[in-house]
Amino acid sequence: MKNRIKAYSFLTLIIFANGYAQNKKHMDYKRPIEERISFLIKEMTLEEKVGQMNQYNGSWDVTGPKPESGSNEEKYNNIKKGWVGSMLTVRGVKEVRAVQKIAVEETRLGIPLLFGFDVIHGYKTLSPIPLAEAASWDLEAIKNSARVAALEASASGLNWTFAPNVDITNDARWGRVMEGAGEDPYLGSKIATARVKGFQGEHFDNTSIIACAKHFAAYGFVEAGREYNSVDMSNSKLYNTVLPPFKATVDAGIRTFMNSFNTLNGIPATGNVFLQRDILKGAWGFKGFVVSDWASIAEMITHGYAANGADAARKAVVAGSDMDMESNVYVTELVKLAKKGTVKESLIDDAVRRILRVKFELGLFDDPYKYCDEAREKSNIGNKANNEDVLDMAKKSIVLLKNDKNLLPLKKSGAKIALIGALANDKNSPLGSWRIAADDNTAVSVLEGMQQYKNNVLVYEQGTDVALNKQSFLDEVKINSTDFSGFEAAKKIAKEADVVVMVLGEIGFQSGEGRSRTELDLPGNQQQLLEEVYKVNPNIVLVLNNGRPLALPWAAEHIPAIVEAWQLGTQSGNAIAQVLYGDYNPSGKLPMSFPRNVGQCPIYYNLYNTGRPTDKDNNVFWSHYSDVEKTPLYPFGYGLSYTSFAYKNLKIAKPSFQKGEKIEVSVDVTNTGNFDGKEIVQLYINDPVASLVRPIKELKAFELIELKKGETKTIHFVLSDEALGFYDNDGKFLVESGLFNIMVGWNSNEGLSSKFELK
Ligand code: NOJ
Repeated sequence: MKNRIKAYSFLTLIIFANGYAQNKKHMDYKRPIEERISFLIKEMTLEEKVGQMNQYNGSWDVTGPKPESGSNEEKYNNIKKGWVGSMLTVRGVKEVRAVQKIAVEETRLGIPLLFGFDVIHGYKTLSPIPLAEAASWDLEAIKNSARVAALEASASGLNWTFAPNVDITNDARWGRVMEGAGEDPYLGSKIATARVKGFQGEHFDNTSIIACAKHFAAYGFVEAGREYNSVDMSNSKLYNTVLPPFKATVDAGIRTFMNSFNTLNGIPATGNVFLQRDILKGAWGFKGFVVSDWASIAEMITHGYAANGADAARKAVVAGSDMDMESNVYVTELVKLAKKGTVKESLIDDAVRRILRVKFELGLFDDPYKYCDEAREKSNIGNKANNEDVLDMAKKSIVLLKNDKNLLPLKKSGAKIALIGALANDKNSPLGSWRIAADDNTAVSVLEGMQQYKNNVLVYEQGTDVALNKQSFLDEVKINSTDFSGFEAAKKIAKEADVVVMVLGEIGFQSGEGRSRTELDLPGNQQQLLEEVYKVNPNIVLVLNNGRPLALPWAAEHIPAIVEAWQLGTQSGNAIAQVLYGDYNPSGKLPMSFPRNVGQCPIYYNLYNTGRPTDKDNNVFWSHYSDVEKTPLYPFGYGLSYTSFAYKNLKIAKPSFQKGEKIEVSVDVTNTGNFDGKEIVQLYINDPVASLVRPIKELKAFELIELKKGETKTIHFVLSDEALGFYDNDGKFLVESGLFNIMVGWNSNEGLSSKFELK
């Protein structure tokens, strides 16, 4: 018996030693990553593999006592068993270290966790909402803004952000338009690339966070802009409008994708083989992994696409969803399904390989506490340099919509200024709704920003309240439309002022996830306030704070100066004040069309001609509305400056080109006004006859230039086949010969035109 025990122990030792050595092989950083992954996968039990595909929300105090009941206890125990691959919303070095320690030191294989978080436009120091950043068209600045976000988030222990949102969208009713780059796939692709590079950095050092392109796909086209609604879409729109920014992120080296809540033509994106297997992992060769959106695997049951949790898990994994965010169905169902043979283990292996690849590439196996540096956490988060960077980004994001009689910039001394509007003194709204890591009331308000300019007399009155309740991520906003008690005081200061600055718009929690609207006006009684104040003093500068395009025809007609200032983040008030006072000359251009009224939505510049685009016969039978013009109030690409620019000499190098040749286009731009300034020169094409109808205009190039007063620059663009072609309904890229129209201009509606032939 003794001998048998001895022999048994010896055998165990050999097995253990053998296992340990094998185990160690994946720790050998000199071996290629794919080999290290293979060693590790061989070591893993089915449960451990499925565990890697499981992501939990850290819904308990992870540094406090261990949870003793409910789902938190189950989550905690599963981490200990090695049945969790990633956590979300656990943040802060102490917290991340505590959870990572369990995964690395208490589980059999010690596989480190990924820590994900919604770092949408900054972490604690917030930059402008992404839609606002997109208005800058400044790719370097946008990249830098993502870098700042990555510096702070990584200093807080995080290694993965659920951003960028690259959903193209053209319906301002949808609350999530604030998260994306607007309506254009070309601009959207450039911005997507910049943001991925900013988040991930050059090398995977401890300031890199893995980026995640979301929401794959077509979420931006939910019907009627209603959140979580269904999407029905043509292949042509999918290939030409929705997919290009996603493809751009793959080309930029993104490591993760998130699928989306919506169905696409009847199939939930989460269970969509065509999107995830055929396109993303097939045609595009994506080697990273796909995380589901929050509970979107289980939601396939509610959609009516899966019968129960097991069916949902099977459909999602077959379709290529690699990680389950908070549905809890992979961890409870996949092992059983694989054992029964209903799900092939090779599918699980593929998902695990993808997840482990990211962990290896990040260097987490070599140092699982790579992001856990208390000193960096203390010095980096919220520091001065980050604030300067987000201020720079905020100024670049502002769009001047109107400036009659040069009311702006404001005089710096000797003026009496009345500042009116609840949003003028709001330190919360500029933070937007994706600001989970930022402290409440940490934005610089417009009032505070304007108080920096001390040689004018500045008086403030709120005029009205926008929200009646305390603002929060989880609650519906209750809007005030009954209390007018502040109107008289506001009118009084307006009457006595030289200039009135009114800061009106949406509060931060009126856009973002779950925050669709059917009205695009100034919420509550702000429009009435604007009109009442206008009666006593029409010298108004209207500063808009909003997370989506608004429809403000009355203001556009009557108010002499309008500044689109979105939700600009932590430094909002400073940025706005510097623009109002001319210390920064605005140069932003709209990344989304602003409608005249809600009924025009969706409205976008790159529409099709239709068979009846204009009123040829002076009757009603043409494509229009009978009660409002069909054009937007402000088109895509629109934005003014304190100076003016003139465009001349649009030249195309030759009248005709062969396919494959570079098409050279140039134009002279002169600063004809009284200030140095920046201009965004935009090039649009139109393919008037094609095998599929093409949009009336498509942005294909742009350049952000700086011109001193009186200066002229010649801007050169080079177009290749890639700019001239399009995808057919089968996803095949076609470049067709024929005539092409070109417009180079200052917005999508105005510019110089020419044409060339492609042979
Ligand atoms: C749901 C949202 O749709 C997604 O964008 C986000 O990343 C996850 N929740 C996690 O918070």
